[in-house]
Amino acid sequence: MSNTSENPITEVHTKNIAQYYRFHSHIYDATRWSFLFGRKTLVEEIPSLPTNARILEVGCGTGDNLIQLKQRFPNTQITGIDISTDMLGKARTKITDPAISLKRRRYGAINLNEEPYDLILLSYSLTMMGAGYPQIITELKNDLSKNGYLAIVDFHTSPLPWFRKWMKINHADFSGELYPLLKESFSSVQTSFHNAYLGLWNYFLFIGTQN
Ligand SMILES: C[S@@+](CC[C@H](N)C(=O)[O-])C[C@H]1O[C@@H](n2cnc3c(N)ncnc32)[C@H](O)[C@@H]1O
Repeated sequence: MSNTSENPITEVHTKNIAQYYRFHSHIYDATRWSFLFGRKTLVEEIPSLPTNARILEVGCGTGDNLIQLKQRFPNTQITGIDISTDMLGKARTKITDPAISLKRRRYGAINLNEEPYDLILLSYSLTMMGAGYPQIITELKNDLSKNGYLAIVDFHTSPLPWFRKWMKINHADFSGELYPLLKESFSSVQTSFHNAYLGLWNYFLFIGTQN
């Protein structure tokens, strides 16, 4: 995970996301069930992990996946990181388990010196990171243990240009560029694609290992 100081481009992105979630953190849990599909399924479909496994969620938001992960894998140490103080604030109101730690961190710059994780989960956070996928994938490869799992649910694309543009305004990338890079960089254990709202957009679940 990166500890480097930010460059000007990532600094602007960090500010934009923080600003976006200053308001959206308040309505996040009440609204996102209607379009961030597949999050519970992803946690359910992760293969079993060793006792005391180390788990990381990148872009943990308001913390619901962390709670689901702890229920699914009780004897594990879980870390959630996010760049939005407001989203982490909401997560802190729900999470009391000392085995779950929350940190304000930006993901996506190369510089890694941490013990690797047995599971890294990213749920609708990769398409919001804006730092360039190859760089993030390099960081994920560094952070994932040799036999660990990467579990991702995220947007793929939409056939409608106006919708892709609208989602870009909302900081989400619908270019369809993410999945091919994941496929090339990790070995798939399980991949599935799904339509949302009769094909207005599609999203994917990907569980992979180091290749
Ligand atoms: C759509 S929310 C997803 C939250 C949660 N994972 C979920 O499934 O509900 C995306 C989250 O990613 C965070 N985020 C975006 N870019 C990030 C980055 N570079 N590093 C860490 N968190 C980031 C945002 O602040 C936001 O909380």
